[in-house]
Amino acid sequence: MPLIEASPDGATIALHTAHTTYALRLDHTVRPIHWGPRISATDAATIPAWRSPHQDTFEGPLDGAEEFPTAGGPMFAPAALSTASDASLTVDGHDIHADELIIRLSGGLAVDLHYRVRPGTDVIERWSVVRHTGDTGEIVLGTHAAAAWCLPVRDNYRLTHVTGGWAREGWLHRVEVPVAETTLVSRRGVTSHGTNPWVMLDDGTAGEEAGEVWSTALAFSGSWRMTVSRTPAGRCSVLAAAGHDRTVTRLQPGEQAVSPTSAALYTGGGFGAASRAWHHYQREYVLPHADELRPVLYNSWEATSFTVTDEGQRALADRAATLGVELFVVDDGWFGARTSDRAGLGDWFPNPRRFPDGLRPLADHVRSLDMDFGLWVEPEMVNPDSDLHRAHPDWTLHQPGVPATELRHQLVLDFTRTDVRDWAFSQLDRIVRETGLTFLKWDFNRPFTQARPAAWTGHAHGVYDVIDRLRRTHPTLRVETCAGGGGRVDLGILARTDQAWTSDNTDAVDRLAIQHGYTQVYPPGTMVAWVTDSPNPITGREVPLPFRFHAAMAGVLGLGGDLTRWTDDELAYAADMVAQYRQIRPVVQHGTLYRLLPPTGALSASQYVLDDRVVVFVWRVTGAQRTVRLRLRGLDPATTYQGVSGAALMAAGLTVELPEGSGLASALVHLNADPPP
Ligand code: GLA
Repeated sequence: MPLIEASPDGATIALHTAHTTYALRLDHTVRPIHWGPRISATDAATIPAWRSPHQDTFEGPLDGAEEFPTAGGPMFAPAALSTASDASLTVDGHDIHADELIIRLSGGLAVDLHYRVRPGTDVIERWSVVRHTGDTGEIVLGTHAAAAWCLPVRDNYRLTHVTGGWAREGWLHRVEVPVAETTLVSRRGVTSHGTNPWVMLDDGTAGEEAGEVWSTALAFSGSWRMTVSRTPAGRCSVLAAAGHDRTVTRLQPGEQAVSPTSAALYTGGGFGAASRAWHHYQREYVLPHADELRPVLYNSWEATSFTVTDEGQRALADRAATLGVELFVVDDGWFGARTSDRAGLGDWFPNPRRFPDGLRPLADHVRSLDMDFGLWVEPEMVNPDSDLHRAHPDWTLHQPGVPATELRHQLVLDFTRTDVRDWAFSQLDRIVRETGLTFLKWDFNRPFTQARPAAWTGHAHGVYDVIDRLRRTHPTLRVETCAGGGGRVDLGILARTDQAWTSDNTDAVDRLAIQHGYTQVYPPGTMVAWVTDSPNPITGREVPLPFRFHAAMAGVLGLGGDLTRWTDDELAYAADMVAQYRQIRPVVQHGTLYRLLPPTGALSASQYVLDDRVVVFVWRVTGAQRTVRLRLRGLDPATTYQGVSGAALMAAGLTVELPEGSGLASALVHLNADPPP
């Protein structure tokens, strides 16, 4: 079957993913016909158009069932496109390429709806291009969505999404969709900690491993919104757009605006299958180096905070190297007058008192210990108390004549400006060359205020431009996205970074919930997790070292404690755990994730499978349970794993022993398939 096919009469078009079909009907408008299990275009052509249940004259047949509702058109749903003068769009034609469908609409301006099937996955990508085809005047776009995704009719709809804040990212919520419009939004100029640009929808009956789930995500790192609408007549749709209610895009004659991509998938296999489909898609089509294994890193932030010195970092690096760490990252405090968060941001030169000979000697020392060298940067920000701000006070986002709003004593540089972007690129390029570093932790520590309308979305494009240029110039450079923890994780930034700092909260118990939310959409192989000191500096909780390791080993393991204060026993244990992690790393980072028990009860468990290898983590949060029986998933039933058949492990379960005692405890099991007899 081709990826995209038209019915014999040409009016119905079916897009086929690995297991699903998305079908449209074209006449003067575009109507969604089917999104679910795989059927042919010929079969889809027999599906009657949606009619509202009561067929009264107050219900439009397109209400909640329009592919790209336009303000001024025959719509009652939230608009995918709104302009100052409204527009009524009709279909001009369409083009089918191997993996892409383009539907051309016009009516005062031209709109192309793009659809791309990603072979081998269940994901369809959509984006829209709006063109000013007139000779005069400006067109002001209010909303310009990537897509509206219409769900099939079901008796009920339930919304799954995450909410949170700094140090509490990714808390999972599952609520019935009200007959109303529910908008998830960032008005912060960045993806945000408060929520994340993805939703999952089901009819209220799906579970982790069964049931129909529809999910969409937006590949964008500036302000954004997703509106889930449920109509009284029983339709549910999701609008996905860059920008929030105050943002506008201005088009002059001949100009065009391209929306970010909204990706979406359907599965009949529950939330777990939706997550696995998302992970697979990102590894195949989004992440720049998905085939690589992410190194075990050490990060200095929790150990030294702003007190960064050549001597202190060497002491940490010497210890980290003996533990098997592969990448040593010096966090905030190495540059300018940055001895606290009050000064120095923007002055990207090694602090001359702390590093009189620059950073090269430290970087060389780290490399002599067989570790790569990395640095923390926050290129989009400036402290008013900095040489940069004194030289360029006009480079920040602020309203002229009004005192600039400082958060964390810093202001945002305007990355919509070419001169600011060129400056940022030249600073980072110089730092990479001077130190020979191969890793940047790229941070962003405050939301926008006082931004010009264009900056709420335009700044993110500027950031993409600088990262893309830097990566092109330094192909071996790897980048970690960070925004005060997980405030900038989305499919847009993950297309140009390699891993994400998940949260500033390194309490391993809280991490189980944060990581549960993260992996709903994003792959464990991008989810950086450090083992830090106990009691935890943020929560004050004491967590046993094995539990801290097992929580961090479920993603990309890092160390972040003050190693100079760890006992010999702790260091020996850590070296052993890092060695174990390096063994299981391909399974965790490249394998398939099954969330066996969510982190909401006394016990939590995750399983990873890669070819003939299986890794299982179990965490006991409360209670005194010693033995756990877990039914595994995704194994070959005909294979035996250390003497137990895959069929038995899936049907009856794996027995895992937890340490004696009550309260926090954990276990790691690594199974290999037995060689064939
Ligand atoms: C943010 C990051 C932390 C650390 C600090 C440094 O909060 O999330 O990991 O880098 O900034 O200021």
